[in-house]
Amino acid sequence: MSRKRRNSRPVRSKEHFLVFGAPAIEDAEIDEVVASLKSGWLGTGPKVAKFERDFAAYKGAPHAIAVNSCTAALHLSLLAANLQPGDEVLTTALTFCSTVNAIIHSGATPVLADVEPETMNIDPAQVEAKITSKTKVILPVHFAGRPCNMDVLSKIAEHYGLKVIEDCAHAIETEYKGGKAGTFGDFGCFSFYVTKNVITGEGGMVLARREDDAASIKILALHGMSKDAWKRFSDEGYKHYYVVGCGFKYNMMDLQAAIGIHQLKRADRSWNRRREIWNLYNQAFADLPLKLPAEPEPETRHGYHLYTILVDEAKTGISRDDFLSAMTAHNIGVGVHYLSIPEHPFYQQTLGWKPVDFPKAKRIGRQTVSLPLSAQLSDEDVGDVIEAVVRIIKYYS
Ligand SMILES: Cc1ncc(COP(=O)(O)O)c(C=O)c1O
Repeated sequence: MSRKRRNSRPVRSKEHFLVFGAPAIEDAEIDEVVASLKSGWLGTGPKVAKFERDFAAYKGAPHAIAVNSCTAALHLSLLAANLQPGDEVLTTALTFCSTVNAIIHSGATPVLADVEPETMNIDPAQVEAKITSKTKVILPVHFAGRPCNMDVLSKIAEHYGLKVIEDCAHAIETEYKGGKAGTFGDFGCFSFYVTKNVITGEGGMVLARREDDAASIKILALHGMSKDAWKRFSDEGYKHYYVVGCGFKYNMMDLQAAIGIHQLKRADRSWNRRREIWNLYNQAFADLPLKLPAEPEPETRHGYHLYTILVDEAKTGISRDDFLSAMTAHNIGVGVHYLSIPEHPFYQQTLGWKPVDFPKAKRIGRQTVSLPLSAQLSDEDVGDVIEAVVRIIKYYS
């Protein structure tokens, strides 16, 4: 029998394809969305204001501004950092493209640092080596929910007088030495995209340390219209607005906040379930020739957003891309987080970046596979993921 045929009976049927990152939605948010629809107030309003208050309280942060994506949150934070053309922003070579795109849209120049191979987070030594007189901001990403080394990064920022903008797209529950991700820097940017730990469909949040930054982000997020413009049709009577800046259409809707308010209440319950799944994967894969995620560092809380394994063909007998196809053939959705940024033609052509110059991010990007890790997964789903991984790896290795 051919290799292909012997491995071909799928663990799950096609009708039960396990969607990667499917969110856990419960009745509370469904009822709140329906209430929003029935109220006639769908846009930015009281539910957004409540979600901002709840999120600020969850994080112990002074100011939270809801927006319609983490990409918007990053863009506005970079604008509020008052960057001038030619200013440099240092970020990681292993992130989603929007981290880098937001820097380019702000008018600044992105500069990449390689990652630490174990944590997959930006390497502080690389950061320091790349600082020039033009560097104005460090933009670390708490990759997969694991906090960056904020002690060292904060010291570097203080020493060189740099601002810090944390990309917390993976890091809602993340903590580092008692501090919460998003509160170390001048700004913390969060995502509520459908696959994230807390979801609103599309959505984002900025935490700002200073009141004036929070005020300017709020204004820029809604066309540059003066404060509280969202109230202009409320029962307090019509209010004129004035345009005080050239802003964007980045505001969050009440319909989205209606979901987020209830998701946030369950954040810790969902985190516990993801941690349970994480540990089940660790146990099940311990003896396979795969590189599993490093243990969380002491005095930290990992956000358990992504469970990433590295598939090294020399050890497993199967390439990463064939492994992705084999998982899909078992009707299990998988992800890649991420091909390193310099792999993409746009950055090669416009900034001259080459994967070889960021060898650790390059290797991770070419070997990494994200397995499903959602609070929505049943024990049976988790069992299916484990069975598929074990079957594929045992078969090829
Ligand atoms: C590290 C990182 N930064 C930024 C983003 C952008 O988030 P959003 O889709 O909410 O704009 C993502 C989304 O996947 C991400 O993973």
